[in-house]
Amino acid sequence: MDESKQGTSYIESEVVVPEGMKLAYIETYGCQMNFSDTEIVASVLKDMGYGFTSNEHEADLVFINTCSIRDNAESKVWKRLKNFRKQKSDNPGLMVGVLGCMAERLKTKLLDEEKLVDLVVGPDAYRDLPRLLDEVEGGQRSVNVLLSREETYANIAPVRLNSNGVSAFVTIMRGCDNMCTFCVVPFTRGRERSRDPYSIVEESRQLYDQGFREVTLLGQNVDSYKWSPDDSLKGKAQINKAEAKGEEIDVINFAQLLEMVANVAPDLRVRFSTSHPKDITDDVLHAMAKYKNICNYIHLPVQSGSSRVLELMNRGYSLEWYKQKVDRIYELIPDCAISTDIITGFCTETEEDHEKTIEVVNYARYSHAYMFAYSERPGTPAAKKMEDDVPEADKKRRLAEVIKLQNEISRERNLADVGKEFVVLIEGNSKRSEHDWCGRNDQNKMIVFPKQGDLKPGDYVIVKVKDATSATLLADMVSAEVQW
Ligand code: SAH
Ligand code: SF4
Ligand code: F3S
Repeated sequence: MDESKQGTSYIESEVVVPEGMKLAYIETYGCQMNFSDTEIVASVLKDMGYGFTSNEHEADLVFINTCSIRDNAESKVWKRLKNFRKQKSDNPGLMVGVLGCMAERLKTKLLDEEKLVDLVVGPDAYRDLPRLLDEVEGGQRSVNVLLSREETYANIAPVRLNSNGVSAFVTIMRGCDNMCTFCVVPFTRGRERSRDPYSIVEESRQLYDQGFREVTLLGQNVDSYKWSPDDSLKGKAQINKAEAKGEEIDVINFAQLLEMVANVAPDLRVRFSTSHPKDITDDVLHAMAKYKNICNYIHLPVQSGSSRVLELMNRGYSLEWYKQKVDRIYELIPDCAISTDIITGFCTETEEDHEKTIEVVNYARYSHAYMFAYSERPGTPAAKKMEDDVPEADKKRRLAEVIKLQNEISRERNLADVGKEFVVLIEGNSKRSEHDWCGRNDQNKMIVFPKQGDLKPGDYVIVKVKDATSATLLADMVSAEVQW
């Protein structure tokens, strides 16, 4: 999943805070789903009468929405919690809570051993926040890390306080049933379940009415989305069981959901993440080809180019299968951009295996990649059954090699766009200058161009690319007349 946003996010509030209103400060780490969850948490807190601040020192309540995916993601949070312990000694009324994926993994350590926090709340327990905060205010420490087979927060309208007002995340499913051996997510987020598609369409429609022009449908494995109107069939496992028994049940799959959301408005862009190579179907690719507003961009994590390593990772596909998927994508959607996630130095990975990863990077010609050295996670199948035997120095060197190659490819691909015209959705000022707009094209590439005419974020324009780096395309505006 796209972790470009990894780090901190501050909920900004321009609103004047009424006297006596309690203020919450939320910091978010990890993937887009965690950022999306923070918007659910904000909604629950807002209903409780909380306001929001981007200044941790004026907060009555501090929440850290945490990530466990790699060791360094957790280390950052421990550091922050120690900071907040200091702040608490100056302000004993301050409540500090840990939310999200570390809550599941480390509840005992957080609450009892280190005594760093007042409450620990897992990703399926955010509706319980009013009760939990009540307990804390009553002087107790409180915890709810129960994982659910049903919770999708379908009827909670996320509060988009730190939004650009143009693009929004919409979570369409929770949990993961895949059990990739390196991955902690099935343990921190529980079983896979899909959200009611009508609530997804409704949320997208409301976003459109509020001026948003892009939704990104989020799930750990969106291609596995499957929803049944039958109330007794909530989790993915239950639906699969009923289907295996030959029962005739109505289901809506991901390709159908994509079309439903694409039909909300022709100028509402639809993106999605993450696709799993074993599950993405031709139907999804056909839907992308059919609808102009479904963006031609697929995040298709490969993890490794070696079929032997992929098998050990329990990814459910071989290198050949993956390459065929890549071929099929370029065949049905020739201008599609594909990005990926790669892990270097997984258990037993040899130099030959690593060479195969280099090969697949060359083969797929990704527009972008998120690349990581393997970090063993306690409790995962790999930690239990395999030895983390690739020396750290080798993991790092292999990672540097993959990063170097991918940067060259990203740059080449971007330079190949020079002279081409693209439709861009304006997101806001460019980071470097308020005289430039920035926004993305269909393929999710960031494009920067000088401001011209009377335009605003949320408008579509046509631009022509004049130069490129490995990360950004530089362009000039051609026209503000975009046909849908
Ligand atoms: N659901 C997504 C992945 C979510 S985690 C998928 O199946 O692709 C995001 C990325 O973090 C993964 O794709 C993987 O590349 C990386 N990752 C997960 N566990 C890791 C670990 N133990 N060490 C290093 N990287 C890891
Ligand atoms: Fe983790 Fe695999 Fe699920 Fe992705 S598909 S969240 S890598 S278990
Ligand atoms: Fe996401 Fe990290 Fe949890 S990547 S699902 S926040 S472990």
